[in-house]
Formats: sequence, structure tokens, C-alpha cells
Amino acid sequence: MRYEPLPASLYKKNRQKFMAQMKPKSIAVFNSNDIYPVSADSTLPFAQHRDIFYLTGVDQEESILLLFPDAPDPNNREILFLKETNDHIKVWEGEKLTKEKATELTGIKNVHWLQDFDALLKKLAFQAENIYINTNEHYRASTEVETREDRFIKKAKALFPGHQFERSNPILQRLRSVKEPEEIAQIQKACNITEAGFRRVLDKVRPGMKEYELEAEFAHEFLRRGSRGFAYTPIIATGPNANVLHYIQNDAEIKDGDLILLDVGAEYGNWSSDMTRCVPANGKFSPRQKEVYEAVLRVKDAAAKMLKPGVIWAEYQDKVGRIMERELIKLGLLTEEDIKNENPDWPAYKKYFMHGTSHHMGLDTHDYGILEEPMQAGMVFTVEPGIYIPEEGIGVRIEDDYVIQEEGEPVNLMKNIPITVEEIEALMAKRQ
Ligand code: GLY
Ligand code: MN
Ligand code: MN
Repeated sequence: MRYEPLPASLYKKNRQKFMAQMKPKSIAVFNSNDIYPVSADSTLPFAQHRDIFYLTGVDQEESILLLFPDAPDPNNREILFLKETNDHIKVWEGEKLTKEKATELTGIKNVHWLQDFDALLKKLAFQAENIYINTNEHYRASTEVETREDRFIKKAKALFPGHQFERSNPILQRLRSVKEPEEIAQIQKACNITEAGFRRVLDKVRPGMKEYELEAEFAHEFLRRGSRGFAYTPIIATGPNANVLHYIQNDAEIKDGDLILLDVGAEYGNWSSDMTRCVPANGKFSPRQKEVYEAVLRVKDAAAKMLKPGVIWAEYQDKVGRIMERELIKLGLLTEEDIKNENPDWPAYKKYFMHGTSHHMGLDTHDYGILEEPMQAGMVFTVEPGIYIPEEGIGVRIEDDYVIQEEGEPVNLMKNIPITVEEIEALMAKRQ
């Protein structure tokens, strides 16, 4: 394994937290992701569904977790189903989980091969009244493909039309949004790998390079440190490209005088990190680039201080907008008049800062979490304000990942990643 897995005790605890929220006489089923095809015999690399991973630590395709806390036979409270490994698979694909290894990894004693699933599901479903199914209810989700979960839901509804169906997702949204210390330690590792990549890029960047050459420098550092790569498609946007919020082509030439926006994070053991920095191609911020960058940095620091238990995301977003508004006036981009005449549904600051300040971050980069509910200690949020000025060819965003604390200010998991104009310029001055 490339990464150090978290202990079985964590997955046990996660399952217990889930089962404590289930109605009596219920089973819950969680499926792995499919391996997605390209064409011919090509596939995309396997990426585990984060819910079964959260509950078991199993990072293997064709796995199923079944939970039945009230099972008449206590052996059936937690059952893991795995694709049966054999000598042929061993030769062509290498080691897969054995039953013994799976128990060690997950803490689940009852492990079956996948071929037992249908018969056992039938037997247990008839001992239960409710079936928890795992629909994707993420506020940003938009998928056209039918997932393994979707296929299971169809099958379960056809097989058990008399049962009551319940939703796992709201439970998981709440549980996964509050991180255990072991989980935060894993995110910290991902952030540290991102830091190493950023420091390497500071050393390598030069006018005349292509954006993708910086992407390659990040990838090099990530892979050699046990990450499987980018937590999300990286944005390497030089000059005006930084004003395209989801720019991912990364194929332009970096020009002398450009400010380069780097929205890049490493994954580690399926945990994300999510960082943004902006660096001057030639090693020195222009006076205007510095002015805009420092305005964004002040907003980021002020916003981070507001992340506390009890805060409501929409109210926080509104307050950050008001802080941004002051900075935009100082930069000569807005006037008091603009604010007075603004459309309350689309405040004036949104002309230059049109996205949210923060999202939950964790196993998914845009992680689970119910934004309408108050913030809690143990939640990890990004803080990522930006100012985008297409008419000047400048786009700046700065992004760090924070853990909310019971008391006091949140902990910045990216506090070691260079961020001030002085730090970035000093490191770039030392380039080979
Ligand atoms: N990298 C995606 C985001 O910052 O939300
Ligand atoms: Mn982000
Ligand atoms: Mn980001």
C-alpha cells in the first residue's frame, strides 16, 4: 500500500456512529465504485466510493458493506463482502484482500466472498423492516452515469417492494463532516505533501515554461511522497487564465510579468487537501499584483477567524462579502455608490468575488456537510476568497484548510505553506 492506513478502531467507531443513527430493525448497504471504462479494454484508475471507505477502510473494487445492528444473530451485525481472490488474479493483478487481511484492516469479523451476497441479503432483509440505501445527495452532485449504488437501489426496490426505504446520506453528511483526530492527521499529511509540491514549484517556475510543466513538478513531488496524485484536477492558470474559475487546460505559456494562480492539492490515502497560491512568474510581484494579493490575504485571515462552532455558513459568507467590499473600494474597483445601489440578491462585491468563501473538505475535496446547520468543532473548511479583474488580466485566490476548534481560532493545516509576498519572493530569489 502506498499509504499508511488508519487503524481499524477508527472504522469501527465510524460504523458505530452510523448504526447509532439507524431506526430499529434496519439494514444498510454500501457499495464500492465501479471501475469506469474508457474504450477497448482501457479503464480509468479505480477510485473508491468515499462512504464505504469511511466505514471500512477498504480500498478495493466490488466490495459491499452490510450493517444490521439488530440482527438476531450477532455475527450478522456487520458483514463485509469481497471479490474472491484466486491464483489467476494474483498473477495478473497482484494481491487482493484475503478474509484475514480484511478483518485486520476493518475490524469486521464476518467477511464473505461476493457470491454469497444475494442469498444473505435476502435472508437478512426478511429479518428487517427497513433498508437504508445510499443515494448521492451532495449539493453540487451532477452525474449522468448509473453507479453501482444506483444499480443496487433498483435491485433492492424490485426485490423488496414491501420494505420501507430509508436514506443513509443525511446521516453520512453529518458524520463525515465532523472529523476524528486520526482523520485530521491524514488530511495534515495530504497538506504536507502539497506543501512539498509548492516549494518545488517555487524553485522551478520561470517565464517561458508551460503551465503543464508546473503541473508535472507538483505530480513529481506528490507521487514520490506516497500520494496517488492530485486530489482534484489542478488549476495552473497564468495571467488572464486565472479569471476562468475552473480553468484546467493548463497548456498556456507563462509570460514574464504574469501572476500564476495555482489551485492544487495532493491526496493521501483518499483524503484531500485543497490549496491555492499565486506566484509571480519572474519572482517579483508588480505593485498592483501585490496590492490585490495582500487584499485577498487580509480577507482570508479575517474570514478564517470567523470559523467557530455555531456559525451559519450563509451568514458567514455574507460577512466575508462585506469585508471584501471594503478591500474592493480601497483597490478602486468599487465605489460607495455601487454599494448603495447594489442589488441585494447579487451584492456589488460579487462582480469581482463571485464564488463561495468556504466548503467542507475531507475524503471528498468538496466534502459532505449540511451547510444550513451550524458549524461544529472538528469540521474542516477551506477559506478561499478571490479577486478576479479580467480588465487588468489579474486573478488572485488564496486558499488554506482549517479545522474548527471548540474554543478559539481554527487550526490552519497549511500554516507551513509560504503565503506572504515577502516569503514567496524570498524563496523565489533563491532559485537555482
Ligand atoms: N479546488 C477546488 C476548490 O477550491 O474548491
Ligand atoms: Mn476549495
Ligand atoms: Mn482549491
